[in-house]
Amino acid sequence: MTGIDWGTLRKVAVEAMHRAYAPYSKFPVGVAGLVEDGRVVSGCNVENASYGLTLCAECGMVSDLIRSGGGRLVAVSCVDRDGEPLTPCGRCRQLLFEHGGPECQVETADGHTTVGALLPGAFGPDYL
Ligand code: THU
Repeated sequence: MTGIDWGTLRKVAVEAMHRAYAPYSKFPVGVAGLVEDGRVVSGCNVENASYGLTLCAECGMVSDLIRSGGGRLVAVSCVDRDGEPLTPCGRCRQLLFEHGGPECQVETADGHTTVGALLPGAFGPDYL
């Protein structure tokens, strides 16, 4: 797939961020992903009084991906409360690797990169 509409992805990520449930960290996050078939899936972080049970925005996005039919993520935009690009945390890089692979593109504050660059030498399905 060529011609990724990063503007639309960022917009959907911002919309998701506004629905975050982040009363503890007060750090709302939204994320949107373009699927190989053209769908756009999204998610927001959902925190919990038992802090360690917090679900990152990417967790919600992956749930949306699977619920809406599955497929591979080709591009992801994750944003903070200001709508600025947020680089996914380590655990979520693993989620993106599982569902997008190393070629999946990721928007960061420094431009576009790939999941493979963010998680070199990743453990994945090929090892099993
Ligand atoms: N968070 C995400 O949703 N995704 C990330 O990639 C980084 C961190 C959330 C988890 C928590 O609710 C808040 O940001 C502060 O860590």
